[in-house]
Amino acid sequence: MNTSANSTIRNQIETLRQALHRHNTLYHAHDNPEISDAEYDLLMQELIALENAHPDLQSPDSPTARVGAPPLAVFETASRALPMLSLDNAFALQDIIDFDNRVKKALQIQDEVLYTAEPKLDGVAVELVYQDGKLAMASTRGDGITGEVITANVRTIRSVPLQIQLQTGAVESRLEVRGEIIMDRKGFEKMNQSREDKNLQVFANPRNAAAGSLRQLDSSITATRPLDIFIYGTGLVPDMNSDSHWDVLKQLKSMGFRVNPLIRPCLTLEKVLECYRELEESRSGLPYDIDGLVIKVDSLRYQGMLGEKARSPRWAIAWKFQAVQGTTRIQAIEIQVGRTGVLTPVAHLEPVRIGGVLVSRATLHNEEEIQRKDIRIGDTVFVERAGDVIPKVVKVITEKRSGNEIPFQMPATCPACGSQAIRSSLEKSDRLESALRCFNARCPAQLKENIIHFASKRAFDIDGLGEKLAGQLVDVGLLTSYADIFQLTIEKLLQLNRMGQKSAENLISAIDRSKKIQLSRFLYSLGIRHVGENIADILARKWGNIDTVMQQTPESLAAIEGIGKIIAESVHGFFSDPGNRGILDGILKSGVEILSPTPIAVKTLEGKSFVLTGTLPNLTRSQAKALIEASGGKVGNAVSRNTSYLIAGEAAGSKLEAARRIGVEIIDEAALMQLVAGTAI
Ligand code: IVH
Repeated sequence: MNTSANSTIRNQIETLRQALHRHNTLYHAHDNPEISDAEYDLLMQELIALENAHPDLQSPDSPTARVGAPPLAVFETASRALPMLSLDNAFALQDIIDFDNRVKKALQIQDEVLYTAEPKLDGVAVELVYQDGKLAMASTRGDGITGEVITANVRTIRSVPLQIQLQTGAVESRLEVRGEIIMDRKGFEKMNQSREDKNLQVFANPRNAAAGSLRQLDSSITATRPLDIFIYGTGLVPDMNSDSHWDVLKQLKSMGFRVNPLIRPCLTLEKVLECYRELEESRSGLPYDIDGLVIKVDSLRYQGMLGEKARSPRWAIAWKFQAVQGTTRIQAIEIQVGRTGVLTPVAHLEPVRIGGVLVSRATLHNEEEIQRKDIRIGDTVFVERAGDVIPKVVKVITEKRSGNEIPFQMPATCPACGSQAIRSSLEKSDRLESALRCFNARCPAQLKENIIHFASKRAFDIDGLGEKLAGQLVDVGLLTSYADIFQLTIEKLLQLNRMGQKSAENLISAIDRSKKIQLSRFLYSLGIRHVGENIADILARKWGNIDTVMQQTPESLAAIEGIGKIIAESVHGFFSDPGNRGILDGILKSGVEILSPTPIAVKTLEGKSFVLTGTLPNLTRSQAKALIEASGGKVGNAVSRNTSYLIAGEAAGSKLEAARRIGVEIIDEAALMQLVAGTAI
């Protein structure tokens, strides 16, 4: 290679090293990262690739040659005999296949290797030392050899045993275990909320919050933080009379340590793959953050034979999930007018790829949220995508401010119709929220949103009537309510810009097709506040036709299981409104035929008993219970031999294990619906 090319690479490597050093310090020493883990990983991967291609440029000072950050000066430090290592990361299936091949080659075996698959907990690694069965010291990983002593802080965590159950003969004087201290998401949200209220800086994620909490000089502060621990391995231990990591974990569990229940032994690589998929799927439903699957060779003898590299063992690897956080810049903040007139600020972002999806917008919820987080136009921010929900801005990276950022003010009027925006409280499922709202019943933005909802897949399902067309039709005045949809004709549609004969014909036939509709869908289409698909279904099944639903009082509505006061008021209010009644008349006169649900008089679940566990995708627990009981079934609390079915949702717990043990059939929400409908095979 010529010298100038070499010096370019040298510069590249140096720049990457400096950047990684800086981000490392921000992350480890200040618990205040400026980039997401995924971005850090990318920089690290880039550096590793360059160093591997140019071994002459490798250096012991490189961030690739080191584990974690040096300990902070404020805590006492302690050195350990057995370093706490890090894990190599894998991002693709091929990396895992390569890992498996490397393991087999090094062990000179052709057979399948037994692995354990464990959730990669996203927290802070710690070592706990027990002396004569009592917790004597807790320390962070630090640089692997030397960590910070945080015993007083760790003692405040309830799931850390202060004393362990000694196995006869198994534990002599000293036992070292290692694990991860985490903060669950609920506790994290609550803690951040209260920090925001007190104008304190919020943490970007539960891991930073856990790290920050463990770094308190006053352990009574740590005690107030919702921390937890999972133990995943050992340091120096007396002979545990076992060659299996899985077995050691079981022993640790019986000594009183908290071991993650999702750890699985995997006899084949196929099984490892299955664990990865399952875990990734259940990820968003878990109460705590995980960022991948750790795969470990189970045999301790094999582990010893495989040995370690500088910073990671050859017998384990971390298979990372797609990222959920990224950083980007807010280009603008726009106001969106929702179906119910609520004005919601939405951030327009410089597009950023997070977990394989290009994110360019994020909700900012409301004015309070913007103030609490001090979000300004031009700010660099952390953005998070969790499950299917709209991406949200987690935190501003204030260090990146140039001074040119512009604070945002909510408008005094509705941006769509110009009427005054009025502050009002908004009932959310668990609290009241203050929001600015446009109360103009004829506001075109609300009408557009209502029409989009009315025509959507799970409502009237009018193919072709989406956001763009709904906007056009409202703008030219062809639609003033959803009743007008059924007055549209091919001639009227042809007045629109860029509307061709064929598209117009297609839309009209889609509208005609939609005219036969189930009562529950019809009720859902109306966009009554708090009436989602499930409530619509409950109403439809209870009263069977639209006229009877319309006649109900708030009291008779609230008397049904699954319907609370807020929903009852909302339904009653909707049908008492003369404007809404006019619209309904219009719809019914235009030939819409509402089909009554099959009455549940057919008691499809007669004689069957059910137990519910975990979060179901659509039904709440009380709705599921109401549905089962209405169909003649019984709902119990505990799984027994008399249970016909366990209905399991996300993050199902011990009931699921019990059902498996006893051999009770386990079904999901969809299968329940089939049983109710009497269509199960
Ligand atoms: S084993 C020598 N198991 O991931 C093996 N680590 O990137 C090292 N982690 O420092 C640890 N869950 O903080 C192991 N089930 C698990 C883990 C886990 C999370 C963390 C741990 C470690 C880091 C390595």
